[in-house]
Amino acid sequence: MSTFLVTRTLPEDATEAALRADVLHGLTRTPKTLPPKWFYDAHGSELFEKITELPEYYPTRAEREILLARAAEIASATGARTLVELGSGSSDKTRHLLDALPALHTYVPVDVSESALTQAGQALIAERPSLAVHALIADFTGGLTLPGTPGPRLVAFLGGTIGNLLPAERATFLASVRALLSPGDALLLGTDLVKDESVLVDAYDDAAGVTAAFNKNVLSVVNRELGADFDPDDFAHVALWDAEEEWIEMRLRARSRLTVKIPALDLAVDFAAGEELRTEVSAKFREEGVRGEMAAAGLEMTHWWTDQEGRFALSLSMAR
Ligand code: SAH
Ligand code: TRP
Repeated sequence: MSTFLVTRTLPEDATEAALRADVLHGLTRTPKTLPPKWFYDAHGSELFEKITELPEYYPTRAEREILLARAAEIASATGARTLVELGSGSSDKTRHLLDALPALHTYVPVDVSESALTQAGQALIAERPSLAVHALIADFTGGLTLPGTPGPRLVAFLGGTIGNLLPAERATFLASVRALLSPGDALLLGTDLVKDESVLVDAYDDAAGVTAAFNKNVLSVVNRELGADFDPDDFAHVALWDAEEEWIEMRLRARSRLTVKIPALDLAVDFAAGEELRTEVSAKFREEGVRGEMAAAGLEMTHWWTDQEGRFALSLSMAR
């Protein structure tokens, strides 16, 4: 018999308090910023799934290719009995891993998007009668407590989502992941790689405008949750490559001078014409950089696999 359990690690009002704090902090500083986790309400999660199917957005296809080719190696290298997945979203690619792990006892998808978790979990248990799914509605940067399921544990962090953390946040995050692991446990990490600028920019600024809609969705979240009066049409989607930092930066640029009211914060925010709000970075990696960040967190990178075209990498690192 399969089981499906959902645990909310934070009360709903704590989520709203966190949004208020992030919006207050981010929109009253220069340059203005908003943290990326607020993209993913139910509509944002749907838009992200559409992004993964765009012709320009290669990371999902490239990572799926690697997972399909390497799932058996991952299974034998880890012997995982518990698979924890951070930022699991639709868990779609994860199926290749679930299929390949013969000893798997429990799958623990972790996401801030309750709608994505519920949909993915229900579909999975319907397909796999022997799988136990224990979903956690949680912020993976906020000190996770995992259910006491059998080891070895494999923590998967796919989709290049690690690139959405800033370098200092990444170091803190990786140390916290290491703290969840015992010797013999492993981290499977998906990282998008540095490549030609035009390929990168197109992946974050598609012709159909889905990424633009996704980027602007964060404004609708602030409108709905905090009563703000952002008009998404007042902003243009901007994706640019920062060659120094080796990241794509997503911004929303005010098309004219405007003021946004945010009643829940008792705040009015002025934008100058052309002023940009930074919504997300998506860092791109190199093998030596990933190896070094793993070592700094106390993890030893034992495998590095890329797709045929060398666009994306999956790496496996062990806790010693
Ligand atoms: N792993 C999937 C989805 C990637 S999109 C894939 O590879 O296609 C990033 C996912 O991480 C979304 O589902 C989003 O809701 C989740 N997410 C973003 N920030 C998060 C955070 N701080 N804590 C938990 N989940 C987060
Ligand atoms: N983890 C994804 C990435 O960096 C998230 C993402 C894809 C994204 N497209 C986006 C985030 C557009 C914001 C805007 O590739």
